[in-house]
Amino acid sequence: MAEALNGLKRSILCGNVTEENLNETITVMGWVQRKRNLGGLIFVDLRDRAGILQVVFGEEINKAAFEKADGVRSEYCIAVTGVLARREAPNPNMKTGEFELRGEEIKILSESETPPIYIKEDLDAAETIRMKYRYLDLRRPDMQNIFMVRHKCAKVIRDYLDENGFLEVETPMLTKSTPEGARDYLVPSRNYPGMFYALPQSPQLFKQLLMVSGFDRYFQIVKCFRDEDLRANRQPEFTQVDLEMSFVEAEDVMTLNEGLIKRVFKELLNYDVPTPIRRMPYKEAMEKYGSDKPDLRFGYEIVDLTEIVKDVEFTVFKDALAKNGSVRAIKIDNGATMGRKDIDRFGEFVKTYKAKGLAWIAYKEDGIKSPISKFLGDDKTMEVINAMNAKVGDLIFIVADVNKVVLSALGALRLEVAKKLEILKDNKEFNFVWITEFPLVSYDEEENRYVAEHHPFTMPMDEDIPLLDTDPSKVRAKAYDIVLNGEELGGGSIRIHDTKLQEKMFKVLGFTQESAWERFGFLLEAFKFGPPPHGGLAFGFDRMVMFLTNRDNIKDVIAFPKNQNAFDPMTEAPNVVDEKQLKELNIGIQTDK
Ligand code: AMO
Ligand code: AMP
Repeated sequence: MAEALNGLKRSILCGNVTEENLNETITVMGWVQRKRNLGGLIFVDLRDRAGILQVVFGEEINKAAFEKADGVRSEYCIAVTGVLARREAPNPNMKTGEFELRGEEIKILSESETPPIYIKEDLDAAETIRMKYRYLDLRRPDMQNIFMVRHKCAKVIRDYLDENGFLEVETPMLTKSTPEGARDYLVPSRNYPGMFYALPQSPQLFKQLLMVSGFDRYFQIVKCFRDEDLRANRQPEFTQVDLEMSFVEAEDVMTLNEGLIKRVFKELLNYDVPTPIRRMPYKEAMEKYGSDKPDLRFGYEIVDLTEIVKDVEFTVFKDALAKNGSVRAIKIDNGATMGRKDIDRFGEFVKTYKAKGLAWIAYKEDGIKSPISKFLGDDKTMEVINAMNAKVGDLIFIVADVNKVVLSALGALRLEVAKKLEILKDNKEFNFVWITEFPLVSYDEEENRYVAEHHPFTMPMDEDIPLLDTDPSKVRAKAYDIVLNGEELGGGSIRIHDTKLQEKMFKVLGFTQESAWERFGFLLEAFKFGPPPHGGLAFGFDRMVMFLTNRDNIKDVIAFPKNQNAFDPMTEAPNVVDEKQLKELNIGIQTDK
């Protein structure tokens, strides 16, 4: 039977007791981590959000409490009152290891069945079980710690933005599609049969409209919804730190956000992020790292060998160059001792990026080993080694193909080798970089049209605007991504604030005048009324918390996440609804599919 509190008040959290509380009578409430009965004494480790405190019950201390304590089991919820004493044998591994509570009174507030997962740090239980009993998973101290960090991070961000003149304004969840490149989650309307609201993929258009309203600086820590393929750093509903500023250029937005990053990492981890954060144009990132989110914690930079090998009689190279491709390479420091098996495995790896093969040169103490030295000859081999700045002991990996394949294969190989060789194992660095000058649009072969790289509201770079009419794929955008250790942490842009230019952009993206007005008329209309120049950015808040808590799965930092199939094993959402509800919504379900 659960006992009532009956006026009993908690006086302190278990994990918060200190010297100051010695010899005081205190009352704590929490969950039984474990109980040991050593005959004359019963020890209970009592846990709450702040930590664990050892409670001791004994016949000498209080006989009734001692007898009652014998009935408690793991995860019972109890209240204990007693005097805090110094422990005879302190436990240096526990925050409260110097003390113990001498139990004089105990209330069993509720009993617990044996939990399906063990409540402890670094639990290694199956994900389905953890998700089905998420409330128990969240009882674990390491999980609770994540949400304390998450809370504090949000607070630091709010304080920083508040100090910098930002207003937090809420924007609607029931709205119209905002194109951010994913599928929408739709909500059927009861009032308008056959019509749907879309849940926002981001508050993009509303924050721009708030700038038209003159709010000057807006922010929101806000849920966004995207129906896309899930990965370790993606959830169907996730949180953005979304912001927008008036009368600014790209540099202003980046500088303000560097301040935010600096503050967050200082206050949460006491880590100093050096500012200004490096800026790297998209083109450089692609050519050196084969990625628009390069991990700059290590080298292995891509080097173009085309000039050196262009006359070499090797069909693989000749074929690539004939297709206007290139021959490029990365150098693995001290990699020359790598075995053939591993090299072959990397050869298979690059094939998943459409490369047809992987050539290599091992610069060993006892000479050069390479399957292509017979084609290159000694001189060219040395030229390659020099161009790569390779020293004895290094390994060079070479790919020849069309540029897109070469860069994506070497970019991925670079990360894969670093992972396999564990070169970042003890690296504690947070390496930030801004990627700038993104292409405004790219050509989508499937859809047979240009699509926006960021979103359709992004401003082209001034000097590239004329290219919109002639070669849109060459236009660079006033867009910037903030990348941390090879992950995209956030992104934003300066926006178009001119109806004519926005209409032109829609045209490039294949919208007719009518379809553009049908979908985004409210924005085009708003731009008729003196819109200020504006721009902004959104951070992936969950991703930020992942870095702050050193987690590599986004599910760990979201209290009630969905699984890989966008399903919640605890509530079992999504699920069927009543026939009556469907009828009200004028929805019929086709079951024959
Ligand atoms: P973007 O689409 O780049 O920009 O999103 C901003 C950041 O949100 C995070 N993110 C996600 N996190 C978890 N799960 C997802 N499914 C997911 N999708 C995105 C990423 C990303 O960098 N409106 C623009 C911002 C702007 O231009 O101001 C936008 O939404 O960390
Ligand atoms: P082969 O003469 O066909 O045995 O090829 C010699 C080497 O070139 C092998 O190590 C192949 O893996 C490598 N190779 C094949 N295709 C490519 C390519 N597209 N780029 C780089 N190396 C390649």
